[in-house]
Amino acid sequence: MTDQHSGATARLILGQLIDIQDDPFVVPLTQAVQYHRHGAILVQDGRIVATGPADTVCAAHPGVAVQDMGEAVLLPGFVDAHVHYPQTAIIASWGKRLIDWLNTYTFPEEQRFGNADYAAQIAARYFDLTLAAGTTTVCSYGTIHPASVEAFFAEGRARGVRAVAGKTCMDRNAPDGLRDTAQSAYDDSKALIDRWHGVDRLQYAITPRFTPTSTPEQLAALGALWGEYPDCLMQTHLSEQVDEIAWVGDLHPEARDYLDTYEAHGLLGARGVYGHAIHLKPREVDRLAETGAAVVHCPTSNAFIGSGLFQMAALKARGVSVGLATDTGGGSSFSMLRTMAAAYEIGQLAGTALHPAQLLWLATAGSASALHMADCVGTLAVGSEADIIALDLGSTPAIAQRAERAEDIWEAVFPTLMMGDDRAIAAVWVAGQPIAV
Ligand code: GUN
Ligand code: ZN
Repeated sequence: MTDQHSGATARLILGQLIDIQDDPFVVPLTQAVQYHRHGAILVQDGRIVATGPADTVCAAHPGVAVQDMGEAVLLPGFVDAHVHYPQTAIIASWGKRLIDWLNTYTFPEEQRFGNADYAAQIAARYFDLTLAAGTTTVCSYGTIHPASVEAFFAEGRARGVRAVAGKTCMDRNAPDGLRDTAQSAYDDSKALIDRWHGVDRLQYAITPRFTPTSTPEQLAALGALWGEYPDCLMQTHLSEQVDEIAWVGDLHPEARDYLDTYEAHGLLGARGVYGHAIHLKPREVDRLAETGAAVVHCPTSNAFIGSGLFQMAALKARGVSVGLATDTGGGSSFSMLRTMAAAYEIGQLAGTALHPAQLLWLATAGSASALHMADCVGTLAVGSEADIIALDLGSTPAIAQRAERAEDIWEAVFPTLMMGDDRAIAAVWVAGQPIAV
């Protein structure tokens, strides 16, 4: 008997399988998660073809090459829903809060990305770091320079990853060399969409940085562009720090709130992705829920820049779509493991202990849903693109001695979520292909 999946590109990956099939904030854990102590994933032609108990899947597909990861946990690759790859080299810069941090560290670094060679160098470094951390999909801001987005997409395409990016648009309150105009932001963004959106696994996000750095004319031009390309994502920042919100109020006395400054210019919709979203008013939460827009929790950044406590429980209870992100380089890590640890700690400070399944869901399917790509990445569902990681649950002596005491899979995995980093990433497959990490 010949096996229909025994083609040269088929591969069986064995390990412990945590298959989160539903949102564990909504569905009881026992229904949301399938766990196989000895599990298998069959991949072929870049996609997941079957999953289940290893003995069943292996018996059904004899002759397929096997990669046995032993005790490691197989998961979808992490999805980082809000990053600034151009801030790679200034991550962990000391002592400033948001607006000072932008002016002191971020803007001078972003000015360098007019140089295509520098942009290419940092894009390569960024993908090296994030893939080693088990992150297989990111949604990144560029700088105002189209060359920054070209470099990111060229590198992402070469690595075969699913990735999103957009040219960051700013036409006020930014230094010389880092401002575009309403018209050039529209024209440059449109040219990048035409060149890159939908090429291989790449997608474009229309990217006004935030209300303080875009004139109403620029916000309106980008809102019009989104109307022309409604299948693009639109990403921006929302209500990150109290000073920033007061500034937005001064700039827009007519607006009901911060979100209203976007809504008034055609920049609120289901494919809108709003970073941080910490200090929201009830009307803003209602509008986010009604429109199906997503917010992105950036916990290491929110602690590092001193922004505040994200209201996870309230937003999830209200039905708002929530993703998880490092916010490199306002965040202090490239790792979604470190980010889950920070999300747990911020949850504790805000009064809710997040379950490890909820943390893992946020870092995979939750972020993928926020980016409207849960049908292709972020899960182990059959038909999904085979972006997979193997997590070593004993990657350091401190983690290993804790995991040894575990009485179930959640106790075994939680120490790695709290204390793990890129040393815990035992293997990464992108579209079914193993990559060196
Ligand atoms: N708000 C506007 N721009 C930025 C940025 O680059 N990082 C963060 N954390 N917040 C922002
Ligand atoms: Zn950001």
